[in-house]
Amino acid sequence: MSMRDVKVCLLGESGVGKSSIVMRFVTEKFKKALESTIGASFMTKTIYVDESTYKFQIWDTAGQEKYRALAPMYYRGSAAAIIVYDVTRETSFHAVKSWVQELQRHGPSKIVLAIAGNKCDLEDLREVREKDAQEYAREIGAVFCETSAMTAVNVAELFDAIARLLPPE
Ligand code: GTP
Ligand code: MG
Repeated sequence: MSMRDVKVCLLGESGVGKSSIVMRFVTEKFKKALESTIGASFMTKTIYVDESTYKFQIWDTAGQEKYRALAPMYYRGSAAAIIVYDVTRETSFHAVKSWVQELQRHGPSKIVLAIAGNKCDLEDLREVREKDAQEYAREIGAVFCETSAMTAVNVAELFDAIARLLPPE
């Protein structure tokens, strides 16, 4: 069985749920009052997909503006980037587009891009239509799914999809 180390970073506005997604994926838990990330945090998780083992080395970056300049340290050398927005906050979806541009200009050339529309459990508060985000993701060739770190919807699936799209080593 082959075994791969996969460096992945999460990017996106503060409060969209990056740390909550990582926590759900790694520990299968959700915390309502999670502290805003300072700098970045690191976790690993190993999964098995199509007879291969993927050890994800996950850099969960801090979304607050004052940490923005640190991001290149985390996306540099990443095999994949997960750009997260909050489906209840339109501005966080605009921020996705600026992250995509930054990665296209300064990120690794073969990076796998994934866009996650998080908090899809909050349907009543929705501001971003799934269709619009899906269409944008298709245009730029990114993986797309709506997730909920709270209910666990599509969190494992997001990482599975990334594993499947990694270029052969
Ligand atoms: P920074 O570390 O500041 O960049 O923020 P972050 O993107 O890591 O957000 P974080 O995971 O800390 O989540 C922010 C808030 O949103 C927390 O209060 C979470 O409980 C809440 N939250 C995260 N994911 C979900 C979700 O899927 N559904 C709901 N309803 N709330 C969520
Ligand atoms: Mg965080």
